[in-house]
Amino acid sequence: MLNHAAVDQPTRLEDNSLVDQEWATRYNETSHATWASLFGSIGQLSQKTSCSSFIHGQKVIQLGAERIPKFEDLSEQLSTSTGWEIVGANGFVPDEIFFTQLANKKFPMSCEIRSLDGSQFQEYPDLFHDVYGHVPLLIYPEVSEILQSNARSMLKAIKLGRPDLARKIASAYWFTLEVGLVKEHGDIRVYGAAIASSPKEIMFATADKRPNLISFDLDRVMRTEYDMLDVQATYFVLNDIDTLKNLANVDFFERALSLENMPTLAPGELCPSDELIQLGSISQQTKSNEILTVQI
Ligand SMILES: [Fe+2]
Repeated sequence: MLNHAAVDQPTRLEDNSLVDQEWATRYNETSHATWASLFGSIGQLSQKTSCSSFIHGQKVIQLGAERIPKFEDLSEQLSTSTGWEIVGANGFVPDEIFFTQLANKKFPMSCEIRSLDGSQFQEYPDLFHDVYGHVPLLIYPEVSEILQSNARSMLKAIKLGRPDLARKIASAYWFTLEVGLVKEHGDIRVYGAAIASSPKEIMFATADKRPNLISFDLDRVMRTEYDMLDVQATYFVLNDIDTLKNLANVDFFERALSLENMPTLAPGELCPSDELIQLGSISQQTKSNEILTVQI
């Protein structure tokens, strides 16, 4: 979902943002064919590029290839691991409602699926992104705790009127569970939902020379701004998936507070402490303090 970036928008409580999926009446054969097409094409690519934890999660969840999954069935599958519940969302869910849901182990996911016309890059809101990208990792207790803890921290920052802290907390989420990469067997593999559900971003993040690839450092990540409507100028790469799981112990609000006097870093900007895995060709051609827009 988009909401982790919408931290500057005023919160408006809307009664109609959470809805029943109404699976039997909402979807027609075209909707299911769209799911099947995306599942077939992206699935093939993501099987080769996703990390083993993501692929294991997919096997456990048993997403069907032909029909849009029922949210109640996904919740049932998750009941044996972490107990997350998938709830239907209508358009954009206001921040306070969205994070309250996450803090209570309920993941609002779009009932609407993207159109095939624009399917090469993630659109929001989009059922395929939400289900295909996010559900597999929800089987892991540590990821469950990270999501809840991050949401609690976001709610605290919002209630205290601290958008500066909310942006840092959102960056921790964005650069992990949306656009996170991890080293595995000498390769760079995907675990972030935004990448895993976008064929162009899979290729851009894992096989292109343009983006910076930098070893993951949480403080550095939380200071980094991002553009959620484009591929990233910089991706952060975990040494292993346990590094992600260790974030379950982090209080993101306190961590953001500890960084409040540190300057933020623009997308694509490098800093001296960066452990570079790949110096992106974009950064080599651009002054380090320019905000980059990456076109693919
Ligand atoms: Fe997402």
